[in-house]
Order: sequence, then structure tokens, then C-alpha cells
Amino acid sequence: MKPTTLFLSLFSIYVSSVVGTSHLRPRSGFEHRRATAPAQCSGGRTANNAQCCVWYDVLDDIQANLFEGGQCGEDAHEALRLSFHDAIGYSPALKASGQFSGGGADGSLIMFANTELGYDSNDGLDDIVSAEKKIADRHHVSYGDFIQFAAVVSVRNCAGGPLIPFLAGRPDATNAAPDGLVPEAFDSVTKILARVTDAGLTSDDLVDLLASHSIGQQDTVDTSIPGTPFDTTPSVLDTNFYLETLLHGTVWPGNGAHQGEVQSPFKGEFRLQSDWALARDSRTACRWQGYINDQPTMATRFSAAMAKMALLGQNPNALTDCSDVIPAPTLSAPKVATMPQGKTVADLDWTKCPASPSTSTSNGGSGGSGPGSWSGPSAGGSGKWPAGGSGSGTWPAGGSGTWPASGSNSGPGPWSGSGAGPGSNWGTGTGPGTTPNNMNLADIIAKLLHPN
Ligand code: HEM
Repeated sequence: MKPTTLFLSLFSIYVSSVVGTSHLRPRSGFEHRRATAPAQCSGGRTANNAQCCVWYDVLDDIQANLFEGGQCGEDAHEALRLSFHDAIGYSPALKASGQFSGGGADGSLIMFANTELGYDSNDGLDDIVSAEKKIADRHHVSYGDFIQFAAVVSVRNCAGGPLIPFLAGRPDATNAAPDGLVPEAFDSVTKILARVTDAGLTSDDLVDLLASHSIGQQDTVDTSIPGTPFDTTPSVLDTNFYLETLLHGTVWPGNGAHQGEVQSPFKGEFRLQSDWALARDSRTACRWQGYINDQPTMATRFSAAMAKMALLGQNPNALTDCSDVIPAPTLSAPKVATMPQGKTVADLDWTKCPASPSTSTSNGGSGGSGPGSWSGPSAGGSGKWPAGGSGSGTWPAGGSGTWPASGSNSGPGPWSGSGAGPGSNWGTGTGPGTTPNNMNLADIIAKLLHPN
């Protein structure tokens, strides 16, 4: 696949992910190239490319035998973690100094498990590595492809998990990745950012990828409390992780401090030092905070960053787009984060950030003013401004409809309108919302920081 084709394909999936509609799926370069009928695969399913059919069989196998019937459980979480640990094993800096760079997303963590599972950073991955190896061998697919495919499916099993493009065709790994390439929770932000940048990711990509910790838990940092999650909603790929990591740390959830751990806001939740630091560092905090009330943007960027990560060390021109095998989502996630019980905005460590459009998105409103979200359908039909709200908004670029392009409504609401265009419509509004558990945190915090 040419880079342009790949871009178009990823972009069209990105758009489909934004509007949440699989029927709008790619009018991509890929489809333009397809002159013949789709390939017939098992179970009456079709794929754009016959080479993708095998992934339907793999899908059936992993949903039944790895993910307990399509659950967002422990194995799904581990499969996602494994995709990062395999892909980040890639270092152009090592290559420049005459050493082996690692092959990135090449499956070396399975192929050379005897070596790589011995690295401290890969502690806890033994079970998922051996389970994935067996299934990959059954279907004769490469470990590099399998690891990324399983991660994409695992995300889809979780409420709020976006569609992540899946490209197949990675060759087998030739060597174990060198030790020291996977960031550790006790590394400084500077060290972590240097590592991911060397691999080809940006600091923004890392913040986006860490949405994965919203479905994560720890087993190995404090072994006295295995299974302790990083946020209050470990089965939902939502923005609560970005909120809860900002709460002041007050307790050790297990038997005291461990390397890579900092205090949690309450018992029952675990906090990695790296998450704590990235949430507060000036290089990453603003993007981090911006996701608290913005599930759609977070999910879309997570998808794009995952797709980028899955190509580390690989040649995209040699891969085939098999994204059409990925199942449709079943459950969605709330658009805004929920403040854990007993906590208020006074419990948050908040970094002052320049105003950014991505932070001014939430529904409802609290105490009189707050942004609103368009709740109408993404293509055609009608919808209404959330109850109690009224506001002004701009239809996103490329859309058309009867929603005023830059109109405003200062009446008592609810505002209602109709439209036919892509995407969601965000705007500012004024209304008497009373939604303490669904609060517009970004707005309240903006007020705390700028009272006048
Ligand atoms: C700064 C970078 C990162 C650090 C330091 C880090 C560190 C950790 C640590 C220490 C754990 C706990 C493991 C255990 O005790 O079982 C963990 C869990 C996890 N990590 Fe990361 N991680 C990072 C980035 C990522 C990325 C980019 C992804 C995926 C794209 C990811 C996905 C996960 C998942 C899903 C879990 C939960 C696993 C489970 O529940 O079994 N992590 N991470």
C-alpha cells in the first residue's frame, strides 16, 4: 500500500470513528483499487482482500478462547499492554550507534519470549504471550500481526473502544529486541519522552496512547494487591483515567510504597508514578487535561496513535489493510468524566493551559454556564441541544445542514435543530444545568483559575 493510500485509508477510518458509524466506512483509495467483488470468507463474511479472510478465523478463535466471549477482561487488558511492549522495542538511536535497533511491532516478544520475558519491564506478560502464541500458530499468522490484531480486537471489546485500523503482513522477527527499550513507571518524564521520541512517537502520541490505562490494572508493582485498577471504570475506555490521575494522592492502596508507585486518591485505585508525572508535566499536562470532558476526541486520537504505534519498525507499503475484519462496537462510553464520590475540583492538581477548542466540550452545565454538545444524529435527522441548555455553535467544517453556521440562541432552551452533516457539533452555551455527577469540569476549573 502506498503511503497516500494508507493515509486515506486511516483517515477514512478516523472519520468513521468520529461519527461512530461503520456504514460510512472508507471510500478510500483501497476501495477505489478494488475492481472485483469482495472476497468470500468463512461464516458468509466478506473482506476487501482475500488475504484478510484468515483474520475472521483468528477473530472467532480469540473471542471464544482468549477474550472469554468478547469480554473487556483481564486478557483483553493484557493483550493491549503486550501490543505496546512489542512495538516500542525499536530504536533508531541504537542503530545509529551500530547496534541492532529492534524490529518494533514484529512479534519478537513471542518469537524470542525466552529472552524478552526476562526483561523487568515485561514482568506479568508471560500468560498472554503463551496464550497468543498458541492461537497464532494455529492460524499460521505472524506474531507481529497477531499481537497488533489482538490489541485492536481487545479495544473493541471495551465500552468506548474505537475502531483502530489493522494492517496485516508483518514479517517474522529476526532477533529479540534489546533490553531497556520499554519505559518503566519509575522513569522520569524526560527519559520516557526521549524513549518514545526515539521510537518515532511524539509526546502527544504518548498521552493519547495512555487512554489504554483507563482499562488497566496492576499486578506486579505492588503484588499484595493484584488486579488494582488505574481508575474507577476499568472495563470502559473512557476519560475518567485522565481525571482521576489529577486527584491529589493521599493513600497507599496496598502495603506501602513501591518503585514506580505514587500515592492514590483512595484505596482500591492504583497510581503509577509515570501517569502521575505525565499528568502534571508542562510538556504533556494540557493535552492530558483536555480529554477529561472529551471522549470523542480522546477515542479518535487514541485510535490514530495506536495505528501509528502498530507500524513502528515496519514498512507500511508491504502491508494490507484488513480493518474491515474488526467487529463493530457494542457499548459506548460517557462523553464526560465522572468525579469519584467524595471528591471535588478542589482535590485536583490542575495546570494552567492556553484555551484550546478540545477542552471546551461537555454536555450539561453546572451552576449556570457551560458548553453544550449537539446530540443529534451524525448524518441527517434532527436532534436537540441538551435539556436546560442553550447556545451557539458552528457546524464542523465539511458539514451542511440547517444548523446555523454561526448562529446563536439565548432563549431558555432546549435548543433544537436539524442537520445533515458529519461529526458532532460543539459549542458554548448558557443554561441552568444541575448535573453534579456529570459536571462540566473543564469549565468549572477554568473559572477557578480565572475568576473574572
Ligand atoms: C510511559 C509509558 C508506560 C509505562 C511506564 C507503563 C507502565 C505500566 C505498568 C507498570 C503497568 C502495570 C503492569 C502490571 O503490574 O501488571 C501497566 C499496565 C498496563 N499498560 Fe502500561 N505503561 C506505559 C504505556 C502504555 C501504553 C502506551 C499502553 C498501550 C498502548 C499500555 C497499556 C497498558 C495496559 C492495557 C495495562 C493493564 C494491563 C492489565 O490490566 O493486565 N501502557 N503499564
